[in-house]
Amino acid sequence: MTLRYRLTFISVAFMTLGLLILGLTLYSAERAILLNGVRDDLVRATNQIQSQYAQAKKPLERYFSGTSISLLPVPNEDFEGSPISVAVFYPNGVRLAATPAFMGEGPSLDSTELASALEKNSVMSTKPSAYGRTMQVVSPLTFDNTVVGVLVASQSLRTVDRALDTLSLVFLIAGSLTIVLMYLGISQITKRGLRPIDMIANTAEQIVRAEDLSRRIAVANPHDELGRLATITNDLLARMEGLFNTQKRLTADVSHELRTPLAAMRGNLEVLRRGAMHNPELLSESLSDLEREVVRLNRLVNDLLFLAQTEAGVQMRSEPVELDTLILEVFRELRPLAEHVKLQIGSEDQATVIGDRDRLKQAMLNLAYNAIQHTPDDGTVTLSLERVGREVALRVQDTGEGIPADVLPHIFQRFYRADKSRVRKGGGAGIGLAIVKWITDAHRGTIEVRSNVGEGSMFTLWLPLAPATDRLLTSQLRDSPSQPLPVIRQ
Ligand SMILES: Nc1ncnc2c1ncn2[C@@H]1O[C@H](COP(=O)(O)OP(=O)(O)OP(=O)(O)O)[C@@H](O)[C@H]1O
Ligand SMILES: [Mg+2]
Repeated sequence: MTLRYRLTFISVAFMTLGLLILGLTLYSAERAILLNGVRDDLVRATNQIQSQYAQAKKPLERYFSGTSISLLPVPNEDFEGSPISVAVFYPNGVRLAATPAFMGEGPSLDSTELASALEKNSVMSTKPSAYGRTMQVVSPLTFDNTVVGVLVASQSLRTVDRALDTLSLVFLIAGSLTIVLMYLGISQITKRGLRPIDMIANTAEQIVRAEDLSRRIAVANPHDELGRLATITNDLLARMEGLFNTQKRLTADVSHELRTPLAAMRGNLEVLRRGAMHNPELLSESLSDLEREVVRLNRLVNDLLFLAQTEAGVQMRSEPVELDTLILEVFRELRPLAEHVKLQIGSEDQATVIGDRDRLKQAMLNLAYNAIQHTPDDGTVTLSLERVGREVALRVQDTGEGIPADVLPHIFQRFYRADKSRVRKGGGAGIGLAIVKWITDAHRGTIEVRSNVGEGSMFTLWLPLAPATDRLLTSQLRDSPSQPLPVIRQ
């Protein structure tokens, strides 16, 4: 059963129940009013006849003599045209007199009613008769405080029953019509109300079928519940589309990145197979090419692995790291790759920070590798280490192509590459600087970039010094002039 029919069914069921309760209450109230009216009339008639007989002070036969209505002068006058019939019985249950209405059928007086009248009690009852139900009041007639007869006042309930039957019929017809109308109305309302959900489901189905995440749901009213659901679903789709596109780009980037060094390595192996083994010059060239590609591949795989780990919440070590030895290690590792540029070490203070040595080395390598890549032949790449106040500045400076000002704010984003055409030799996946930023943040440091197109770039990693070194340094530098602080930091 669909949601629409469930909602319609439940609403109609509740309303039908409400109608039923209302109908039953009205019916019962009307029935009580009508029956009370008849009962009051009967009691009033009985009281009247009883008191008139008591005032007359005559024996029963003389007052109610004969069997005709003429023998009941007062009651007949008073009840002429009234639906009430009256009969008088001897204490032994034999009828003495009655109004004409009783003649055909005769009032019934059963033994219990008679017994209770003889004990001076009045009894009211409803009885079936040939013409429908009858209500009657049986009461004693007393003379000198002795029960000398029994008075029965009765009235047919045909009119009351007919009125109640008509009322039931009206309720039944009107109620059925109301229920049908309610069903049609509610079913339309739920259909309209649930239309946005239908649209959401249809759009979701289309997205799944066509694998097209760019589709969106039309939002009629963004402020109601369904509008909010549609807006949130659209936001979710936009987010999924973004993630999906990033993933697609990453897969394309990664496969491209892996393919380039692998193709280069295959080329070099081919050269070796064709006879370079016997040519020392060609052999050394091919081997160093191979070595370079292996290093590049290794770096890329490490970067990707690290990126995956950061997503999963990687644990950083926290130990003293001597940055001066670290910078030397980076220098030595990169020297074979920096044949076309002059790789050098500038100032090299001694400094220790608390952190993860491998990660810090990875950050330095990424920065230096970028510098080497973006510096043309005969340019210079300088690695330096300076202590400034309570911080240490790890710097990589190049005399390369520089970074345009509009590109600068984006370079730390994941997979961002200024040159998207991938034609540039040695282009990366655009994750190196994102990793540097992540590592710097994890060490509670900051990263600063200064760059001029055509002149070169300078990346500075600012890290807090290890506490012991910090104290030593503070006492040493107390009187030394302070150095200007960097302007732009990430
Ligand atoms: N020293 C630099 N000189 C000029 N441009 C740079 C320099 N360093 C980074 N960039 C620019 O910033 C972009 C992002 O650098 P990042 O290191 O994140 O990616 P990548 O070097 O392209 O790829 P990957 O490092 O993942 O191999 C680079 O594509 C490049 O355009
Ligand atoms: Mg890089």
